[in-house]
Amino acid sequence: MTADTHIPPIAPGRLPLIGHAIPLLRDRLAYVQRLRTYGPVARITVGPKSMTVINSHELLQEILTSKSQHFNKGLLFDKLKIFGGDPLPVAEGKQHLNRRRMMQPALHREQVKGYVTTMRDTAEPSIAAWHHQETLDVCNEMQLMAQGVVMAALFSSNPQRGPAQTILNGVDTVFKAALQHAMVPISTLERLPTRGNRKAQAANTVLRNAIGDIIADHRANPDAYDDLVSLLLTVQDETGATLTDQEVIAEVTALLAAGSETTAVTLAWLFHELGHNPDLEHRLHEEVDSVLAGRPLAAEHIPQLVFTRRLIDETLRLHNPAWILTRRTISPVRLGQFSLPADTDVMWSPYAMHRDPDLFPDPLRFDPDRWLPERPQPPRGAFIPFGIGKRMCIGDQFSMTEAIVITALIASRWRLRPTPGATVRPIPEITVHPSSLDMIAETREHTAAGNTA
Ligand code: HEM
Repeated sequence: MTADTHIPPIAPGRLPLIGHAIPLLRDRLAYVQRLRTYGPVARITVGPKSMTVINSHELLQEILTSKSQHFNKGLLFDKLKIFGGDPLPVAEGKQHLNRRRMMQPALHREQVKGYVTTMRDTAEPSIAAWHHQETLDVCNEMQLMAQGVVMAALFSSNPQRGPAQTILNGVDTVFKAALQHAMVPISTLERLPTRGNRKAQAANTVLRNAIGDIIADHRANPDAYDDLVSLLLTVQDETGATLTDQEVIAEVTALLAAGSETTAVTLAWLFHELGHNPDLEHRLHEEVDSVLAGRPLAAEHIPQLVFTRRLIDETLRLHNPAWILTRRTISPVRLGQFSLPADTDVMWSPYAMHRDPDLFPDPLRFDPDRWLPERPQPPRGAFIPFGIGKRMCIGDQFSMTEAIVITALIASRWRLRPTPGATVRPIPEITVHPSSLDMIAETREHTAAGNTA
């Protein structure tokens, strides 16, 4: 029996009950930011459920590292299980550890270096196809590029347009349904044959069949591929067991879902900020021009693009894609002065934490130089775009590299200008994405000739 099992159950009223139900979509971000003013730990109700909100980065660090054995992933991730398989983001305990060990090599820093050329060759044609003065739907452009890059790393090349579109539509529908269920946490609703639930289940079946066909092709022609799927098909656990087709399908779906929109929205916000900060844009152009010096972008350039990396870090701070994450206690645990019994739902908002003025001076200012090593850095555990601990994002190296590649490729040719009068609002859905982001592409030659404002 550990010391923690002696903790008396939480005294009712010990945590202030400060709110009821997450409000309407447009108010949610303001709401989660306001929750931070209620002290390190607070309690709210969401429908019939009570949620414990963690506002302290120190307590959050304990939850995610030294006390992580007391928690599973909780509400948000329960909902993903209904679509079958227990891929890495939803696996628990020994199964998670095992699976993580199997998958880590495929996304390790050294392995990711090998994807740089694929990332460049996948994104470049889309960027080259833009026209001077064309109005771009930047969210859509970034989404297509990010999906293309993950697809290319997973499947060697973009699969045929039809299957690719089927897979992407399926991932989108399935994840939107999961999020919807998480927001209305009444389990019976998920099992009702509503139009939405039937659509999600049908999308899930089509998605699994399309990925199943790709796996069958890999198994039939093992020498024809050198990609993430081939790695997943051969990797073994400590007993020598390999993943089944169903397990690979679940992992591929999870990688597509976890890896596309997160990186895409980060890039969209980054170019939104650059559109309003011409000085920063100019510094980016200078760095990219001097590092690439007219050569094609390659793996050796990535560590040299230091300002580009700071821009991405600052985007991940100010526009963190995750606005809510969850855990649930599986055994009693003490957090600071609070004792949480088993089965307590816990949530926190990285988005709100990254905008807390106590942790980040002048938090609403987009300032990549706050990340210069000579500037005071935020306390440990306050900047966690990829999480921390044993559930930390397995794709962090992949997405940082991808974001650097795409940012540098765009910056070497284009300026993206805001459309006059447009208002861009953050919308919290699966990620916090811009409401819409139309920007005007201008070639850099045109700017250099002094023809633009
Ligand atoms: C800007 C881009 C990204 C952000 C901000 C991000 C953020 C995160 C966060 C915060 C977690 C932990 C969630 C938690 O603790 O509950 C996570 C987990 C995960 N991410 Fe990412 N991610 C990004 C890109 C990617 C990419 C590109 C991939 C794959 C190619 C990926 C795959 C995963 C997986 C599989 C997990 C689950 C890990 C586990 O539970 O062991 N992510 N991500």
